[in-house]
Amino acid sequence: MCGIVAYIGHKEAYPIIIKGLKRLEYRGYDSAGIALLNDGSLNVYKKQGKVANLEEYSSDKDRGGHSGIGHTRWATHGEPNDINAHPHLSEDEDLAIIHNGIIENYDSIKKELLSKGYTFKSDTDTEVLCYLINDIRKNTGTKLGEAVRLALQQVIGAYAIVVISKSEPDKIIAARKSSPLVVGIGHEGDFYLASDATPIVEYTKRVVYMNDEEIAVLRAGEEMKLYGIDDVEKTPYVQELELHLEALEKGGYDHFMLKEIHEQPRSIEDCFRGRMNAEKGWVSLGGIKEYEQKMVNANRIIMIACGTSWHACLVGEYLFEDLARINVEVEYASEFRYRNPIITENDVVIAVSQSGETADTLAALELAKSKGATILGICNVVGSSISRITDAGSYTHAGPEIGVASTKAFTAQVTVLTLMALSLAKRKGTISESEFRTKLSELEAIPQKVQQILEKNDKIKYIAAQYQNASNALYLGRGSSFPVALEGALKLKEISYIHAEGYPAAEMKHGPIALIDEEMPVFVIATKGTSYEKVVSNIQEVKARKGKIIAIVTEGDVQVTAIADHVIEIPEVDEHLVPLLATIPFQLLSYHIAVMRKCNVDQPRNLAKSVTVE
Ligand code: F6R
Repeated sequence: MCGIVAYIGHKEAYPIIIKGLKRLEYRGYDSAGIALLNDGSLNVYKKQGKVANLEEYSSDKDRGGHSGIGHTRWATHGEPNDINAHPHLSEDEDLAIIHNGIIENYDSIKKELLSKGYTFKSDTDTEVLCYLINDIRKNTGTKLGEAVRLALQQVIGAYAIVVISKSEPDKIIAARKSSPLVVGIGHEGDFYLASDATPIVEYTKRVVYMNDEEIAVLRAGEEMKLYGIDDVEKTPYVQELELHLEALEKGGYDHFMLKEIHEQPRSIEDCFRGRMNAEKGWVSLGGIKEYEQKMVNANRIIMIACGTSWHACLVGEYLFEDLARINVEVEYASEFRYRNPIITENDVVIAVSQSGETADTLAALELAKSKGATILGICNVVGSSISRITDAGSYTHAGPEIGVASTKAFTAQVTVLTLMALSLAKRKGTISESEFRTKLSELEAIPQKVQQILEKNDKIKYIAAQYQNASNALYLGRGSSFPVALEGALKLKEISYIHAEGYPAAEMKHGPIALIDEEMPVFVIATKGTSYEKVVSNIQEVKARKGKIIAIVTEGDVQVTAIADHVIEIPEVDEHLVPLLATIPFQLLSYHIAVMRKCNVDQPRNLAKSVTVE
């Protein structure tokens, strides 16, 4: 949700910042802008739309300089036009700022500045902050770093900001609270800053993840200086990045989403590798091991998340309850945090988040922590805010997910939740040794089965072509396939803009059945298992109303195959693991439909990958 990049050092800043902005475009693509300090001038270029527009617009302008800041925006305050694009300048055009987050009390600060005679050019909260910093600097005669610190003491809200100044060109000031910011420490005394490590990894692997209410002062050729907002100096904690550059490229695929769908055999394996052994019969999630007994004894486990990660939690609920007989509640983080929930020290709260930065999930976790609950995380991005505030957690190890629509992160989250459920079941004695081992070897076989489904791509593409012009779609599933139906519907709507809804199959007759006619595709998970016969009845109900049935069935299925318009077979699998397979055809269907409709698959309209505002 807005990406920020900055550089100060001995190299040309422009190419580094532009490349970095392209890597961060998944965070927002309403507008892009850059400010460069070059020989006493501060050159600012900004343009509505993607980074490519900015490149074109600035191509005949002065893009020199060894220090600069860049921003790719997901609009919050003010429409996405050139004026509201970042960087914003102070009224005297000495300061330039980029910001990711929301200044909640910007209105009252703005009123005060208006009363002092300032006039504003944009509708943004960021410009207000820039004016405030400059006003403090002028009134108190302080240097930039101190002015930023004093201004931030007045600010309520979330921010990752980077500020440069024409009159103090030797430094960059950066600060964060609730929005991510990473500093890369280059080899030649240069510094790279970004919302995540992807723009940095090409230049250095030594990074400092800034913490809340920290301010960094960076000068080329000097040591990084770090202060608390209370002005106490801190020692930066330098970490080694494990990210590899190839993981950030499309690797021959047309879209990141397609690459990430195809990576799932590997990402699922990476997720369980070293954490289980079917032959020897053990599961060990090192990160949470010492909290397992607490989970077993907990009043209840509350899983919190948003979007796709919330769907993974719903699968987790089925697994934890059925296998380990532990009471689980799944909550939307955004609702949970404002509902005055009853949380006690005997509760364990698990946050599930690909980015580890989702504002609502973070805030919900903080609330649970303040009430004394144990807080655990399942995150993909190493070093992310959620992974740092939790008591313990497990990474999903899916590798960077760049397509805005989540695919491999979902299957990795479900894999971690499966491992957790099995481990707890074993500890609690709610699973027999032979069942435990069978499920582990079934899990081991999942990557190969996912591969078999991916090989059905041509058939899935053919089916996608039949429904590319649909206006609505229904997704139905029962048990742990119900969240898969929700996830299928979300994938379709977010990248192809077709209205889609997921329902528990049996709920259809309580309302949605009224929508069914010959135009309505109904995607159903009808794999072998406890509810198979009941789902067959639901399919009959749809067929009786002339709806089109596209069913995901187990290899060799006869009954559904005889009545469905199309079937996609998936390999036979343990019922608890069906979500890991059944979701794959839905991902491919959505992908192909979106491509056929000429939609921007990797960067769907209005969306951003990392939602760091509430
Ligand atoms: C949908 C999607 C979103 C995210 C949601 C939570 O494809 O990606 O619904 O799942 O914004 O994000 P994380 O998992 O980063 O907390």
